Parts: sequence; C-alpha cells; structure tokens
Amino acid sequence: MPLLLAPGTTLVAATHNPGKAKELVALLDGRFEILSAGSLDIPEPDETESTFVGNALLKARHAAELSGRIAIADDSGLSVTALDGAPGIFSARWAGPSKDFAEAMAKVEARLIETGSDDRSAWFTSALAVAWPDGPSVVVEGIVRGDLVFPGRGVNGFGYDPIFVPTGHDLTFGEMEPAAKDAMSHRAVAFEKLKAALF
Ligand code: IMP
Repeated sequence: MPLLLAPGTTLVAATHNPGKAKELVALLDGRFEILSAGSLDIPEPDETESTFVGNALLKARHAAELSGRIAIADDSGLSVTALDGAPGIFSARWAGPSKDFAEAMAKVEARLIETGSDDRSAWFTSALAVAWPDGPSVVVEGIVRGDLVFPGRGVNGFGYDPIFVPTGHDLTFGEMEPAAKDAMSHRAVAFEKLKAALF
C-alpha cells in the first residue's frame, strides 16, 4: 500500500526553528496544518547519523514517536568536492555556536587553499523525511550542483548562499531573487520528489 497524506492532516515539523516550520508550510502549498516540535516541547534529538537522509529520518521518527502524529523533518548542507564532501552534515556546525556563516565560508576557503586543488565544484543537498507514529517512513533527497566563488557575493538567502553559483548561472544564490533560488534549489527538488511520493 503506498503511503498517502490527505490534505488538512496535521503534521509536526521536527524543528525548533519557527522560520523552518514556516518554510515547510510554504513548500507544502499550505495543504497541511503544521505544528512545530518546539511548540509541543519535543526536544531536538542529537544528529548522530552520518548522512543527510539518516539525520532527516532520525528527526522525523523521533518527533512522530513523541507526538503520536505524522512528522516531517529535513536535513541539508553544502558539500565540497575537493574537501571530500565537507562540511556536509556538519554545515551548520562549521558556523559555530554563534552561527557565524562568514566564519564558516572563510573556513571553506582556507581548507580549499590548503588542498592546493583548483576544483571549486560543490553541491547542496536537502533530505526530507516523513514518519508515521506507527513506524513507516518516506525519505527523499534533492541536490543542486554548482561552483564556489570567493569572496562571496550578495545579501539574499542565508548560510553558504553568497559563495554558491549554481551550474548554468552567473549569480550566486546570495545575489538571486529568493523566488529564483526557491525554484531551483535542492529543497525544491526534494519537495517535488516528496509530493510525487505522497500526494
Ligand atoms: P540543518 O538545519 O541541520 O539542516 O543545517 C543546514 C545548514 O546547511 C544550514 O545551517 C546552512 O548552513 C546550510 N544550508 C542548507 N541549505 C542551504 C541553502 O539553501 N543555502 C545556504 N546554506 C544552506
């Protein structure tokens, strides 16, 4: 039996970040009622898996078990070819406790210089998982490929957006209009896959 989600179902977004919960609502076209795990006092689990898919599933399962409701979670990050995929699942952690992405981007640049490689290719990944309280789950992954530029450019977006130029474009994600980024991003690709799997 395929797993299906009926419109109007209440989903728990496994995040304590109200911005992320809102983004999930927008990407799901307002089809569902979304409660955030934070508002239900469900603690965030440690992200102990070694892949985006593993961590997204872990977060969704944890929220589904504790809330007794269907839960949705994401895990995302930037992977750099010449750094063997780093920062990858550690993308948020490279910015430190103060979430300083200027520092994280400087670290990427410094590590790249250390390698001596002139390969600047990189990709963003977004894994999205939906878990049911009685056990089943669905997980999908979206990727967007591009090249890194230093110094970064643009003030739109967040995280590593200023240093990422998607393949076939001249502007960084930080310079693009948010709608242009949202139409082609790793998150958009993952959501299309999720919609195809669940609706
Ligand atoms: P998460 O909240 O554990 O999924 O961490 C994802 C981290 O990856 C974020 O803090 C960002 O640093 C980075 N990241 C993920 N998606 C994007 C994006 O679209 N643009 C820039 N950085 C991103």
